[in-house]
Amino acid sequence: MGNMILVTGGAGFVGSHLTRKLLDKGYRVRLLDSFIYGDASLNEVRGNPNLEIVQGDICDRQDLRRSMKGVQGVIALAALVGDPACELYPERTMAVNYQSTRDTVAACKEAGVGRIVFASSCSVYGANGDRFLHEDSPQNPVSLYARTRIMSEEYLLEQQDVEAVILRLSTVCGVSTRMRFDLMVNTMTAHAAAEGIVRVQGADQWRPHLHVQDAADAFMLAYESPGAAGGIFNVGTDEENYTIGEVAEKVAAQVPGAVVEYGQTSTDKRSYRVSFARIRDVLGFRGKRTVENAISEVHALLKSGAVSDFRDIQFNNAKWLSNNHHWRGAA
Ligand SMILES: NC(=O)c1ccc[n+]([C@@H]2O[C@H](COP(=O)([O-])OP(=O)(O)OC[C@H]3O[C@@H](n4cnc5c(N)ncnc54)[C@H](O)[C@@H]3O)[C@@H](O)[C@H]2O)c1
Repeated sequence: MGNMILVTGGAGFVGSHLTRKLLDKGYRVRLLDSFIYGDASLNEVRGNPNLEIVQGDICDRQDLRRSMKGVQGVIALAALVGDPACELYPERTMAVNYQSTRDTVAACKEAGVGRIVFASSCSVYGANGDRFLHEDSPQNPVSLYARTRIMSEEYLLEQQDVEAVILRLSTVCGVSTRMRFDLMVNTMTAHAAAEGIVRVQGADQWRPHLHVQDAADAFMLAYESPGAAGGIFNVGTDEENYTIGEVAEKVAAQVPGAVVEYGQTSTDKRSYRVSFARIRDVLGFRGKRTVENAISEVHALLKSGAVSDFRDIQFNNAKWLSNNHHWRGAA
């Protein structure tokens, strides 16, 4: 017994990989998710005797409390994810992305949970130019999503009785059983494959990228590393900082016949180029996969015919949330 981990948002794009990897490593996993985007992502792991699935809401204190029983640590991924998704219902976003962090900490303390690893985002750096940003660089959030991540980070790091570890993820890419086509590399690859065109706005803006499997590995590493306690870590690899134009060129290079079409300046002003020295030096993290790997696996997925229409709203958080109102549950 022992070593039971609670993963919130375990059915999501990152969470479904993390859940499988934790089970493969011998952990017992309890998964708390409200299944906004369904639960088909768990088909491969459902029935595993070491997995307990709880359908519930991280905004519901009872759901949190029952999910914490017997748990040694929490990996907190459940959130409304992405700038456009968060702008739709700001009050609900505050509840899911910030208030629930406070309630999760309270439930951890009540249950004696030792460690919480929290999914934050490099988008806390916002519009921040060309220089390399590290964990202590000034933040310049340009969205509600980023502000809720910062507020949650600050609250977590104030805590004495629970060890918090903050992971600021780069923009994630690649294939998952909960597929998203609203993330830059995945979107560009899908458009290139379907239309032969990669449309680019804000070509000079910087963004770091992280393969979804490396993201899952980083959560396991942060959970297991004693030296991570109380730390904030950018998650990614220095070499995987690219401008949006560079990503588009990489996509066009791999999808036969695709061309890049350069458009106007973007309305999304985020530009951040991030240093990953801390997670490399303190935790020994090395990303094993690249943007090129993600492009080729997303392209292969599309060519296989497994995805009938990448534009389907199930693959796009903001579109799904604006078309499906039941997800707000009791709120
Ligand atoms: N994907 C990225 O590029 C990226 C980048 C930076 C940070 N992150 C962070 O990583 C985490 C996971 O992102 P993802 O891409 O897997 O997102 P996702 O949207 O695929 O998954 C989120 C999961 O959380 C669940 N969820 C949402 N609200 C809930 C609630 N109130 N109660 C219970 N479950 C709820 C959803 O049902 C879904 O399964 C998030 O915290 C996100 O902020 C992701």
